[in-house]
Amino acid sequence: MVPPRVLLGVAGGIAAYKSAELLRLLTETGHSVRVLPTAAALEFVGVATFEALSGEAVHTGVFADVPSVPHVALGKGADLVVVAPATADLLARAAHGRADDLLTATLLTARCPVLFAPAMHTEMWEHPATRDNVALLRSRGVVVMEPASGRLTGTDTGRGRLPDPAEIAELGRLLLERSDALPGDLTGRRVVVSAGGTREALDPVRFLGNRSSGRQGFALARVAAQRGAAVTLVAAHTADLGDPSAVDVVRVGSAAELREAMLGPAQGADAVVMAAAVADFRPAALAPRKIKKGAAEPDPLRLTTNPDILVELVAARRPGQVIVGFAAETGDETGDALHHGREKLARKGCDLLVVNIVGDGKAFEVPDNAGWLLCAGGGETELATGSKALLASYVWDAVAARLKPPSA
Ligand code: CTP
Repeated sequence: MVPPRVLLGVAGGIAAYKSAELLRLLTETGHSVRVLPTAAALEFVGVATFEALSGEAVHTGVFADVPSVPHVALGKGADLVVVAPATADLLARAAHGRADDLLTATLLTARCPVLFAPAMHTEMWEHPATRDNVALLRSRGVVVMEPASGRLTGTDTGRGRLPDPAEIAELGRLLLERSDALPGDLTGRRVVVSAGGTREALDPVRFLGNRSSGRQGFALARVAAQRGAAVTLVAAHTADLGDPSAVDVVRVGSAAELREAMLGPAQGADAVVMAAAVADFRPAALAPRKIKKGAAEPDPLRLTTNPDILVELVAARRPGQVIVGFAAETGDETGDALHHGREKLARKGCDLLVVNIVGDGKAFEVPDNAGWLLCAGGGETELATGSKALLASYVWDAVAARLKPPSA
């Protein structure tokens, strides 16, 4: 198979050094990448770094290799253009159709999805000129990511940090899988997503847990944020996953903590997605000190049932709110995985249920996912195998289709 052809534009900001890591991620995941830095970007990272990591020549102007008319050949041949970092200046030049270097000229010839990952100081990101440029680019179908918050150049902190390279690569892959995956259809909406797996303490050292990595929930939060929603992500034991940009993250441990963290924000939400694997049971008693081995056989573990958070959310739902559940299912002698999914959708009373068919290395701790989307009132769609962000995009399509217009 021919690898997808990605153009990586790099503009002149200090975050340009992170583009080398993004380049590495893109090449390691099977993309063929040509780097198009601006002249200012090369003040931060040298040509040799980009050429060595991409294996391709690097130029900034349209007058190198003139016979091949590079800006036309590159733009027309690209499957995806990613610009990271996109500075305020680059956003302005792109918004106004300038063609004063190879990168901006190529942006005019490209007909593939274009993803900008901005990085700049908070004041520059919030300036009306930048806001207008971003709005203009988005109105033309360009995906402009929300920047992350955190440490900026020097000692200041705030909104405007380059999103994590892994996050940029994830959204780039999503646009290659599905070019229309990131519309702004959740703008003005509030959503709450749970992710990860709860742990129920047995003693200060041990717990009952499960295999959920939290990746699907994080992908749901990230895709919703990029589609314009204000997102609260309640994450249980996902320490190895960094906070997605422009998402409010609440970290929790047990089912009881997850329940507490969900119920409040859910009251004001347009949509709630329970992607977390919540423990059905917890130890009936928490030993205050570490349980010692001793000579005798241990007592059987006594368990007690946790509340079903999804059922509670459904009971407390406000009018028009869309509630989504997840179910990892295997078939058994009473029916196949889909049969159990249908039965669970009815039992939980949610609007949508994503059924992941598990076993054989599927669903847990792997980057890709597949499944079925079951709708209350009928309708079953098989979801194509792909990234967890792709599955997330199908879930948000179905949620957006059910949300009433904000004025209604
Ligand atoms: N869920 C929940 N609270 C629980 C258990 C599950 O909110 N105590 C939610 C999960 O987040 C998921 C959905 O319910 O969205 C289905 O979870 P699952 O574990 O598959 O369902 P159970 O009701 O626990 O059924 P079973 O384990 O018997 O299949």
